[in-house]
Amino acid sequence: MITRRRFLANGAVVATAAGVKLPVWATGINVARAAAGPTAASAAAVEHGLLLGVDYYPDQTPESLWPEDARLIAEAGLTNVRVAEFAWSLMEPSEGKFDFAWLARSVEILHKHGIEVILGTPSAAPPPWLSEKYPEILLVNSQGMTVQPGGRRFTCPTNKVYRKLSLAIATEMAKTFADTPGVIGWQIDNEFTLQQWGRCYCKYCRTGFQDWTKRKYGTLDTVNQKWGTAFWSQVYTEWKQIPVPLPSNGDPNPGLALDYDRYQSYANASFAEEQLAMLRKICPRHFVTTNNVGAPLDTIDLRELFRNLDFVCHDNYPGFVQIFFEGGKMPPEQVATVVALGHDSMRSVKDGKPFLIMEEQSGKAGQSFFGPQPHPGQLRLWAFQAVAHGAMGVNYFRWDTAKFGAEEYWHGLLNHDRSKSPGFDEIVRTVKELKSLGKAGLESRYVAETAFSFDLDSDWALSIQPGNRKLSYAAQLMVWYGSVASANVGTDLIRLDGDLSKYKAVFAPVQYVVSAKQAENVRNYVRNGGVFVTNFRLGVKDESSQIVDMPLPGLLRDVMGVTVKDYVPIYNEKIGVQFGTELAGQDAECALWADLLTPQTATVLAKYTGAYEGAAAITVNAFGKGKAVYIGADLDAKSLARVLQALLAVSGSKSAFGAPTGVEVTRRQAGEKEWVFVLNHGAEAQKVMLPGKFKSALSGDAFDGSVTLRGFDAVILERQ
Ligand code: GLA
Ligand code: ZN
Repeated sequence: MITRRRFLANGAVVATAAGVKLPVWATGINVARAAAGPTAASAAAVEHGLLLGVDYYPDQTPESLWPEDARLIAEAGLTNVRVAEFAWSLMEPSEGKFDFAWLARSVEILHKHGIEVILGTPSAAPPPWLSEKYPEILLVNSQGMTVQPGGRRFTCPTNKVYRKLSLAIATEMAKTFADTPGVIGWQIDNEFTLQQWGRCYCKYCRTGFQDWTKRKYGTLDTVNQKWGTAFWSQVYTEWKQIPVPLPSNGDPNPGLALDYDRYQSYANASFAEEQLAMLRKICPRHFVTTNNVGAPLDTIDLRELFRNLDFVCHDNYPGFVQIFFEGGKMPPEQVATVVALGHDSMRSVKDGKPFLIMEEQSGKAGQSFFGPQPHPGQLRLWAFQAVAHGAMGVNYFRWDTAKFGAEEYWHGLLNHDRSKSPGFDEIVRTVKELKSLGKAGLESRYVAETAFSFDLDSDWALSIQPGNRKLSYAAQLMVWYGSVASANVGTDLIRLDGDLSKYKAVFAPVQYVVSAKQAENVRNYVRNGGVFVTNFRLGVKDESSQIVDMPLPGLLRDVMGVTVKDYVPIYNEKIGVQFGTELAGQDAECALWADLLTPQTATVLAKYTGAYEGAAAITVNAFGKGKAVYIGADLDAKSLARVLQALLAVSGSKSAFGAPTGVEVTRRQAGEKEWVFVLNHGAEAQKVMLPGKFKSALSGDAFDGSVTLRGFDAVILERQ
């Protein structure tokens, strides 16, 4: 399981009566509220401007300061706030006694200053009275320990009491604010993907899992066959016998464990769906979304979670990457790549639709300790990076800096003494600049020539049985992504059963589980001219997490043109990889894994040295009009980058911009118009070569053939 910490440590919608959905960013500026009562609500559309705002906590601020806050927020050029996502105990001080008067007063003050409001439903942190009265709502972690209240997200997604009370308060909120001027949308809950215990293993989840399994498989015979319960005497004869994968003096059944991960994703997504269905009914003119941790965190299938939500939101904290990666020593250029992967994964959840940053770092990151101080320019750079990767807006976290609670060290736009933070003016400038890009810029489409498979089945199944203790899907994805990202050709994160035809190259690291549909899709993609690049452990398992009963790489053997003669987890052995002329370069080291390949129709690009001397390590197969490349060895990062870049060139994907390492270039298009984002993530000035004449979309400055950026600077260019 990749939680935020583990991941980092490792490496508008407006519904109309006709049901027509307009993109949230495609509406006009400012509140132009249609005069429609609740009954006519669905016929009207609340229009609002660009979503450039801040996360605001009136629940933690004396009321006497609210007018000043609203005035200052407006003066800073921010036009919306998100409020109340952690205010359950104030909104329902005891069961069934609701108090939204304070929130209504706050919304009114904000609205008077032209600030629109996104309301958060508060289910991420139930109040003490609730967990005391209904302790059954508490999450049980994967070790069987009941997680205690006092933090947040300590709840079971299946538990009916928790669901009922979460829906009840959200419903009361919705009824109260459905027609309140200034309210434009909803964030359901807060970060379903948060924290180290992302899954619950309680008795309610066990029953929920049994029901889910019954719906999925129909009969126990099928379950027994799909999970292979003949092993270790696990044949189930009644649904209620099915366990959850809690410690049992022996690893769990892999098929059951994979299905349990799927069930937990479903449990969270269906929890959100309950609030969504209610909000659609009561607040048809408001958009509805939820926020996420900004990395490809994996406890929930985000495509499932966001299926019926209006757009994706995520929380962007490069500071977390700075704190947790490599003991805080990771250089900013590399931090930026991890952050870019987060943005690309989030944009891809809704197949390229612009997303919103619901929380953007606005100062030093910190909870119990501080992250590094952002360098001047970095706050602007990080917000621009989000937009460069497809964000349609940015909400800064947070307005003031908390003087109490677990996040006193998390710096907002105001310091503890309410003076302006070191980043305040930079944020004001950034917001102004983003506004000048306007609707067209922020609604434009990110251009991607390549794609990465982000496959949860492979990820989950490999976490359950890594094969080599150190082998991790997330780490592989990150190092592969980092190798390709620096080519600046644009990268989506996709599923192999989706549309691949628009990509020149598709990369699929450790595609451990391959379904028949995915195999057929990849086959067609390559046949029609695509370049498919994958590596060891390809196609080992089917969707039930059973090992395929055919020579590896299983269903894709014809496409890859090789057979895996043997596979070897590497621990102490010194294994090398020697490249042939096509990939000529220094020998590589093979770290965690070696698939020993025998080519059928493929050509050998590299061979092993050492104990497996002579076996093919990398092959390419011409299949139809395309090519399929199998990288059997876990190459050291430098060699991998070289190999993947060479293969990218083979695919014909090449950026027209000449950017040095550490400078990112992305493109967004709308019709004829194109915006080129050039982001210098390093501290030194850098020169970027341009294919012709450009001008800055922000300053109007002209550039012919090159542009030089100061350290941590960003420019947005348009072709002249
Ligand atoms: C998350 C949460 C916020 C806050 C920030 C900063 O993204 O959504 O409530 O905790 O991180 O830590
Ligand atoms: Zn549970």
